[in-house]
Amino acid sequence: MSLSPGHRNAGRPGEGRRILLGISAGIAAYKSAHLARLLKQAGHEVRVVMTEGAQAFITPLTLQALTGEPVRTSLLDPEAEAGMGHIELARWADLILVAPATADLMARLAHGHADDLLTTLCLASDAEKVMAPAMNQAMWRQPATVRNAHRLAEDGWRLLGPDSGDQACGDVGPGRMLEPEAILAALDDTAPREAAGLTVVITAGPTREPLDPVRYLSNHSSGKMGFALAAAAAALGARVLLISGPVALPTPAGVERHDVESAREMHDAAHRLARGCDLFIGCAAVADYRAETPAEHKLKKREGEHTLTLRLVKNPDIIASIAARDDRPYVVGFAAETRDLEAYARDKLARKGLDMVVANDVSRAGLGFGADDNAALLVWRDADGTDQRSLPPQPKSQLALAVVRQALARLRAAAPP
Ligand code: C5P
Repeated sequence: MSLSPGHRNAGRPGEGRRILLGISAGIAAYKSAHLARLLKQAGHEVRVVMTEGAQAFITPLTLQALTGEPVRTSLLDPEAEAGMGHIELARWADLILVAPATADLMARLAHGHADDLLTTLCLASDAEKVMAPAMNQAMWRQPATVRNAHRLAEDGWRLLGPDSGDQACGDVGPGRMLEPEAILAALDDTAPREAAGLTVVITAGPTREPLDPVRYLSNHSSGKMGFALAAAAAALGARVLLISGPVALPTPAGVERHDVESAREMHDAAHRLARGCDLFIGCAAVADYRAETPAEHKLKKREGEHTLTLRLVKNPDIIASIAARDDRPYVVGFAAETRDLEAYARDKLARKGLDMVVANDVSRAGLGFGADDNAALLVWRDADGTDQRSLPPQPKSQLALAVVRQALARLRAAAPP
């Protein structure tokens, strides 16, 4: 699903913004306390409105202590209305941020309901509106939720996330609220957006190499890291073109997605889209080989023959061919290794002609392939040789932000304005 970035309000440059933080009834509400704190630390004024259900997950007192402001929970509260009435509060805000936004709240907002304080404020306010959806993965995938998300984006809401991964209910999939740090980075319109004006092309996920009309060679890549990189680059203001192999992930907000299947399709899309781009990140797990001649009809078991020989030929190395272009962008590759991380990363840097390599140790339990967390060693080329930086285990969304920021810093250093 691709959502338009929606209405943007530049806020008051150089100053903190007046942020109304709406919290609805999801387990991710516990992260909203940290988010409120980060917003305050970033210099914003924060007032909190909680739905009735949200209070079952986190208390208004917690948010009051963190923001230093009374927390509003009810529309029909004469005492609170005598202070700052709800219409006044709606006018006060220059940004409404709903985090977490549950499926039910999204449905009510998509249909213009005003049956509690938070929905009423959203309807009464002309402020910029942003939400971070959070719900069970099945609820996020339901056509009704997809419809509501599209309608909200059309109405000018900017949707951040959701992230994909382990859920509090035990499921795995899209629906986790974006980490507070990533939400803050996405909101940071007052700071010059680090990637504004830049085009970033990212490959993600596996490729599928057909053997016959029904079978293929592939791998276990989930695409999570590449999608997290796309979300991070978009949050930093870049135009992001995401070339994805077959994965079960929703398109991050504001990202232009191009679906492909085989390595050769990915190669062609990469060369078509990388023309004139500033940064190319090859995160896809591209199949190294493909069947020389895929069978025209389904391969049959042969009586009496215990072996089947497939003749494979090498696929093009997409990232190396991008790095070899005359109009090459800054090129970042990935290396999944089980040992000697640094040595293999440096070798890949030189062999493929890359500018930076993000190496991760896939032998570490809970990290890397399919996992939600990752750690990485970044190795890059410098005038004086190579340099490096180690990023500790963290959610892929945070790691992605750190990788994109580091690549942008190197890109700027390599080509000063
Ligand atoms: O050679 P290896 O597969 O370990 O290199 C990994 C890096 O190269 C990743 O950035 C991956 O996206 C890229 N790659 C590619 N085309 C290939 C093989 C790998 O772009 N055929």
